[in-house]
Amino acid sequence: MTRKLIAGNWKMNGSLAANVALVQPLLAGVGSTPGCDVAVCAPAPYLAQVQSLLAGAQAIALGAQDVSQHESGAFTGDVSAAMLKDFGVRYAIAGHSERRLHQGETDMQVAAKAKRALAAGITPIVCVGETLREREEGMTEFIVKRQLSAVIHLNGHCISEIVVAYEPVWAIGTGQTATPEQAQAVHAVLRAQLKAATGHAQRVRILYGGSMNAANAAQLLAQPDIDGGLIGGASLKAPDFLQIIAAAA
Ligand code: 13P
Repeated sequence: MTRKLIAGNWKMNGSLAANVALVQPLLAGVGSTPGCDVAVCAPAPYLAQVQSLLAGAQAIALGAQDVSQHESGAFTGDVSAAMLKDFGVRYAIAGHSERRLHQGETDMQVAAKAKRALAAGITPIVCVGETLREREEGMTEFIVKRQLSAVIHLNGHCISEIVVAYEPVWAIGTGQTATPEQAQAVHAVLRAQLKAATGHAQRVRILYGGSMNAANAAQLLAQPDIDGGLIGGASLKAPDFLQIIAAAA
């Protein structure tokens, strides 16, 4: 079994003071050898600060919430994979549903972002997931397979190096979690798709995200194809995030 990964996505939250108040108890709580991999994905301006807060600690890795699909140049506002690498970033979220929705990111752009991250030695956390309407129309499988397929196509032999996050849009920030059975069903679809693309599909971690919290984490993480979590709201509260980490150990 692969080691689980619990990643916090802080989204557009935090401040210099709040980040200290969050990271310090996290470091104290996870200790030097947590039973799973742990990451925090901070807003870009705070990467340097969080890098230095984590400095020396191997227990928590640094993540970014996005990465440019371009290498460098005239792309105002974009942050390149090489820049992220400069600040010790190990993971970069690519194609979060909030960016697909608000920034209009397409499957092809998400695939290109994953490729840039991989080329810089950063593990992309590729997000896929259906909206409520798509689920109600029976489109869930079609949507997540289409989203993952673009990434598989563009990233070919590197595909076993990515992390996938299944985040049903209707479960994000709503308090309405997918049931363990609903989540497992989609994770199994994604695993089968990865198996068709690589002999190493078993080592690709498929995270669940969407209102995962201290109370429901253990049940979700007990599913055979759920290899960790991508946590929004609950990652902003150290005690809650630590409980999720403990559930994954
Ligand atoms: P919540 O945990 O707040 O539902 O957010 C999930 C998410 O979008 C993580 O990327």
